[in-house]
Amino acid sequence: MAYDSQLAGKTYLVQTFGCQMNLHDSERVRGVLDASGCLEVADAAEADIVVFMTCCVREGADTRLYGHISEMISTPIPPCGRRLVAVGGCIAQRDGDTIKSHIPNVDVVFGTQSISMLPELLETSFASRRGALQVDVSEHPGFSTDLPSHRELSYSAWVPIMTGCNNFCSYCIVPYVRGREHSRDIEDVICECEHLVADGVRQITLLGQNVNSYGRDTYGEPRFAELLRRVGETGVDRIRFTSSHPKDLNVETISAMAETPAVMPQLHLAVQSGSDRVLRDMNRHYTASRYLDLTRRIRAAVPGIALGTDIIVGFPTETEEDFQDTMDLVREVSFDSAFTFIYSRRSGTPAATMPDVSSREQISKRFDRLKNLVEDLSFESNQRDLGTTAEVLVEGRSKRDKDVMVGHSRKNQTLHFPVPNGVEADALVGHLLDVKVREARSWYLRGVVDGDPR
Ligand code: SAM
Ligand code: SF4
Ligand code: F3S
Repeated sequence: MAYDSQLAGKTYLVQTFGCQMNLHDSERVRGVLDASGCLEVADAAEADIVVFMTCCVREGADTRLYGHISEMISTPIPPCGRRLVAVGGCIAQRDGDTIKSHIPNVDVVFGTQSISMLPELLETSFASRRGALQVDVSEHPGFSTDLPSHRELSYSAWVPIMTGCNNFCSYCIVPYVRGREHSRDIEDVICECEHLVADGVRQITLLGQNVNSYGRDTYGEPRFAELLRRVGETGVDRIRFTSSHPKDLNVETISAMAETPAVMPQLHLAVQSGSDRVLRDMNRHYTASRYLDLTRRIRAAVPGIALGTDIIVGFPTETEEDFQDTMDLVREVSFDSAFTFIYSRRSGTPAATMPDVSSREQISKRFDRLKNLVEDLSFESNQRDLGTTAEVLVEGRSKRDKDVMVGHSRKNQTLHFPVPNGVEADALVGHLLDVKVREARSWYLRGVVDGDPR
């Protein structure tokens, strides 16, 4: 898509917060700005346009956005004499033009379905007087995948298979800012994957808030298992997907994971709590024993699979006993990794009106206990891989040490290894390498290359 644009020659910077949805949307934002003739720069001081892709899943995110935008005021104005600040993503969708009352120097607000409108909004803003806000948070049918993309990595791609969420977990703002579930046509998804493979992409990550219900809205039944098998047939080396909801993860999907060689032995399956009462209050539609049963089936079908999860500590109705149930479940599953969050009240969600049964201090102590447990389990899990050979998709040099390279294993562990002698490090990026694991910590492994790149 090409735009007849007055934006040609303007410089831009995109800063992204939040989940993979926003990371992917940012690639489309860069894509539409590139197509308008804009040029990406690495430094805000050189940018005529700064775009913030925002997240409101927890309260800290709002505060950070205000801080970042205020910083823009003190950043020197670029050569064109005027810098536009555009706010997109989930805070933009939630707050619309009221953002202006919190942050006066915002010029453009565009919602989660309005990425295609960004060039027009920016042009109008450049043409109008300072201080006039341009806003579009309306619903635009279609997928951001129809827009041009400026991929961050040449060898790895996000592929959204659905947008929105129908689950309304009682603590979560996402369904209010991303709308209802809407699945993409299966042939469109496969066609995009085929193009990506032809373009040299080696890893595809299928994206959705609940990928296991993919297809239910469009085809009347979930078709995620079929989709996984079909993506496997495109010849891509690695397939990952996120997020999975335990209530919708079915036996067909587990079989498809086990029988599709390109599907990586790694699953992120958010449990949120180990207490049945809290899970009910969270509107999660499964019990702790159903979750445990699922993890047993998955481990039986895909031996050695790495299991990850999300856990919320301090949900309003969580007592010490409920928290103990969470600790017990975490020990029993022995997760390979986990993201832990302190509950954050989100206005407009059902949980926001539930009174707290625990104090902030109690919650903070629970959080530390869980964090220590999760760290110990990750350490033990990584220790089990000492001495083994891990296949790594090479990403590039470490930011801290240019003689060290970084990549991810099939189980999605971060692996560091020295640049092999006589090899041009940059030429390894996007290749698969075998690495012998020599050191294992909670958050990463270290090793040495053991074979030729492929
Ligand atoms: N759809 C995904 C799922 O259900 O697995 C999760 C998406 S959400 C962006 C990522 C994680 O943020 C959730 O799994 C949950 O643990 C956490 N989260 C969501 N709302 C939260 C809140 N109000 N307070 C704290 N953590 C929250
Ligand atoms: Fe939020 Fe639940 Fe939807 Fe995940 S499944 S995005 S936690 S409402
Ligand atoms: Fe945040 Fe929106 Fe993702 S609220 S977690 S960026 S869907």
